[in-house]
Amino acid sequence: MKKEFVEITDEIKNTNNITKQQLKYIFADDDKENEEYLFKTAREVADKVFNKDVYLRGLIEFTNYCKNDCYYCGIRCSNRNADRYRLTEEEILSCCDMGEKLGFKTFVLQGGEDAFFTDDKICSIVSGIKQKNPDCAITLSIGEKSKESYQRFFDAGAERYLLRHETANEEHYAMLHPASLSGANRKNCLWNLKEIGFQVGCGIMIGTPGQTVDYIYEDICFMKELAPHMIGIGPFIAHKDTPFRDKPNGSVRETLLLLAILRLIFPKVLLPATTALGTADMLGREKGILAGANVMMPNLSPVSVRKKYLLYDGKICTGDEAAECNMCLRRRLENIGYHVAESRGDHPDFRK
Ligand code: SAM
Ligand code: FES
Repeated sequence: MKKEFVEITDEIKNTNNITKQQLKYIFADDDKENEEYLFKTAREVADKVFNKDVYLRGLIEFTNYCKNDCYYCGIRCSNRNADRYRLTEEEILSCCDMGEKLGFKTFVLQGGEDAFFTDDKICSIVSGIKQKNPDCAITLSIGEKSKESYQRFFDAGAERYLLRHETANEEHYAMLHPASLSGANRKNCLWNLKEIGFQVGCGIMIGTPGQTVDYIYEDICFMKELAPHMIGIGPFIAHKDTPFRDKPNGSVRETLLLLAILRLIFPKVLLPATTALGTADMLGREKGILAGANVMMPNLSPVSVRKKYLLYDGKICTGDEAAECNMCLRRRLENIGYHVAESRGDHPDFRK
């Protein structure tokens, strides 16, 4: 093991900070032993905070209609091959019922930016779930809205919001999105969500076209400024019906390195081992947990729509019933010495 690598890892851990040079050094290193030292150090930090508990969030993908046209995303509005669907309010509530029976205490409602789901409809769904399961936590992940809309969702009972910032660099943002979308607006949404009092999640894909280590460093700087409660990162995976169809997929190794680095910088942050990571590598989610992640998001959407919420090619778990995914994940965690937490899995600073 290289002494310099160990010193850098320890310094990141002790200062909760990283320099651009240190980030570049870690990404350029290809020694397995060094990598394992970083993962082990990050894992120990996570274990100290979370005690080998992994939080499960039941993911309900309730609409794949989207008005946006992000170049990387399989449900972009220009994709004529996407088979569009919307779940009804009743279907969403019954997904939560099923989830509750399986022991989930947190639901993530995710969808494209779909004008059919007006603020009234979202509020009615959120309060409907809360009425049936007063103790559960609801996370929304439905994109960029006005501050007033976010406030209404919060007042209806949603407590958490996921909105990956995708990249903190405006030029890079413009390589990934049409001109109608701006990184500045997305960041502004995150600040608004925070101000309202949501537990907020930002994040990026690893390996998007045009991404550089310098940009990833800018992402880390933005995260330090925002101080999010959750950070979602996963590899970019190409979708055949998007402009990025021929672009190479993001690297699993780099995703794991960044997960570990983020754990060292933000010891208490909620860090999911994402479905994209599990798609890029059969054991990707387990490797993510062993590199410092502490959240998994099994799919609760009805099997009939799973294959339609295809953000990227080859997505896993599209044929499995919720109960199967639940059992599968629990088994996978046990295999690596971790277990599913019984709590709602709030950020440590938000625990009631
Ligand atoms: N509409 C909401 C939003 O914009 O935040 C939520 C849905 S959006 C599809 C969820 C996330 O999927 C995005 O933030 C993006 O990072 C990720 N994603 C989209 N396409 C992807 C791809 N090809 N590979 C990996 N992740 C992708
Ligand atoms: Fe869905 Fe393993 S988590 S089948």
